Amino acid sequence: MRMYIGSAGIILCLVIGLIAYPNFTKQQTAYDAEQVGLNEIVTIRFSHVVAENTPKGRTALYFKKQVESKSNGKIRVELYPNGMLYNDETEMDALKTNQIQMIAPTYSKISTVVPSWEVLDLPFLFKDEQQVQSILNSAIGKELLSKTKEEGLHGLGFWQNGFKQMISNERSIRHVSDFKGRSMRTMNSNILLQQGMLLGARTNAISFDEVNKKIDEEKIDVQENTLSNIFSKSFYKKEPYITLSNHGILGYGVLMNESFWESLSETNQQVITNAMNEASQWNEKNAQAMNEADLKAMKQYGTTIVTLSEKEKEEWKRTFIPLYDTFKKQHQTDLLQQIQRITK
Ligand code: LMR
Repeated sequence: MRMYIGSAGIILCLVIGLIAYPNFTKQQTAYDAEQVGLNEIVTIRFSHVVAENTPKGRTALYFKKQVESKSNGKIRVELYPNGMLYNDETEMDALKTNQIQMIAPTYSKISTVVPSWEVLDLPFLFKDEQQVQSILNSAIGKELLSKTKEEGLHGLGFWQNGFKQMISNERSIRHVSDFKGRSMRTMNSNILLQQGMLLGARTNAISFDEVNKKIDEEKIDVQENTLSNIFSKSFYKKEPYITLSNHGILGYGVLMNESFWESLSETNQQVITNAMNEASQWNEKNAQAMNEADLKAMKQYGTTIVTLSEKEKEEWKRTFIPLYDTFKKQHQTDLLQQIQRITK
């Protein structure tokens, strides 16, 4: 009898357990409403090296908002500006190994892994921002983006910053002779390093996040950058002579890890493509105005601003001719000729 009661008790416990278990597990997974469907959320970690209040910083923010609203929160974009996660030297590897899923390096920095992008660094190749934009929106832009695939990268598109200007710590730069023997910072790019050498400067490639420190150590006398980068990093406070030279263009290739891109559903890919198109349009409308506003602020601060005359520009252009010759010799591509057919 005792055995009978014991077995009945065990069976009763099992039955109660079986009935209660599904409700219990349901409660466990749904007890926190925020966690429901968490597994379906895709997170894109997007790292870049500039300040938030710059053409790239603000376009990235715009892109994030577009993606998150178009996907109803199913895709999250986490932004890491100012090189806080990875800098110029580490972000490309971090992207390739999927530590981060998105970066937007300058054309110059992309040229270190995809050499044909060097074409965009050639000085005085473009007349104005509109010309750059229409060329990059054409088959030429598509060709450049498609070349990133060989490196395991998915090229989403281009964002502009603007034309580069020169700044200097001691006196205004006008002539090529003003560079002679001075320390010049450039981004890491074959063309830009050669450009500095042709100017007669002692040229070094320095990561963007190191520039302020190197100025303080008196290792940079002269450098080129866009007005928004010069302003947002306060370079003008230490190097207050600005030469408006518009000698080269600085913009970005927006890149995603190719395997990560392939892992996304078609719907998510479409959301990202649409968000990217809208962000690029926003960038196209606003980048130039942001650079102009920063120039105004630096004028008010009291920097010395000079504009290169046409004659001075001609002197710089003559100095840079060997860059074009070297590019043609080193690259088996007619990208330069294609661009020149449009810009001439
Ligand atoms: C620089 O290194 O000067 C620029 O690449 C920074 C940027 O990304 O605009």
